[in-house]
Amino acid sequence: MTDGRGRAREAELGPTGNVRAMRIGLVGAGNMARALARGWGDPVLACDAGSGRASALVAELGGEALASNVEVARRADLVVLCHKPWQLEAVATEISGEVKAVASVLAGTTIAALQEAYPGVPVFRLIPNTPVEVRRGVTCYTPTEGVPHELELQVIALFERVGVVVTLSEAVVDAAAAVSSVGPAYTALLVEAQVDAAVRYGLAAPVAARLVTETIAGAAALLAERGYDTLTVRREVASPGGTTARGLAALERAGVRTAFQDAIDAVRSWSSK
Ligand SMILES: NC(=O)c1ccc[n+]([C@@H]2O[C@H](COP(=O)([O-])OP(=O)(O)OC[C@H]3O[C@@H](n4cnc5c(N)ncnc54)[C@H](OP(=O)(O)O)[C@@H]3O)[C@@H](O)[C@H]2O)c1
Repeated sequence: MTDGRGRAREAELGPTGNVRAMRIGLVGAGNMARALARGWGDPVLACDAGSGRASALVAELGGEALASNVEVARRADLVVLCHKPWQLEAVATEISGEVKAVASVLAGTTIAALQEAYPGVPVFRLIPNTPVEVRRGVTCYTPTEGVPHELELQVIALFERVGVVVTLSEAVVDAAAAVSSVGPAYTALLVEAQVDAAVRYGLAAPVAARLVTETIAGAAALLAERGYDTLTVRREVASPGGTTARGLAALERAGVRTAFQDAIDAVRSWSSK
């Protein structure tokens, strides 16, 4: 189409005829911003607090490292807040008059706090984890009442591009994040501990790391296939009186359940302060 309406329509539609992708701006260019940007794989608009991490991200993915948060807010359709939670007020003071919509990944930061910082702006609360970088992330999403439905669908679709999005009420989202957003670190520690143990029995560290990591990935896929029924998966490996049962008993004696309970208690007690 060549008339005015046609051109306007072309501007809205991407090459595949889909609604034009939202222009994403990142305020903060640290670990979570980088993981999301790599997962999305698009050129970025980003700003940092002076470290140069935004420029490094742009060197990798294309786009522009902008000189100020205000410029990010002006240029983006959706600003993703990737700074630390305690910087909410300072950043909002700079950009709340310019920003069109805000998606926050800030741990422990409620929708009410986001709405107070960004009055009149549609705000979205999401807690992703670092595997978004390889499009295997888990993002906890807490719906905000009264936001435009189309925009909400676009925000959810954006995070679904980099993994699964699990919708949860705000009452439980911090508990959820205390397993999913911190989980990659726990898994890395579990791998490391098993590798060290295997090295003592003569395995080369890189071989042990591959064995353990691929076993975790495979076991995770099997658990999903079995409807997350952990007992079934355990019993399929541990025959009565067998070696796996002895290994599991040793882990129980060492307090593996208590250790994970202590870990979630520690995360929750800190993030609810
Ligand atoms: N890491 C995770 O696994 C994870 C998981 C879930 C949620 N989150 C959330 O993601 C957010 C970022 O965490 P992170 O681990 O990525 O932290 P990080 O690596 O320390 O990155 C923080 C970024 O914010 C930038 N920044 C600080 N003050 C700023 C300001 N006034 N304006 C613009 N940018 C500013 C920093 O700039 P410089 O580079 O110049 O220092 C840095 O690039 C946090 O709110 C956290 O709760 C993280």
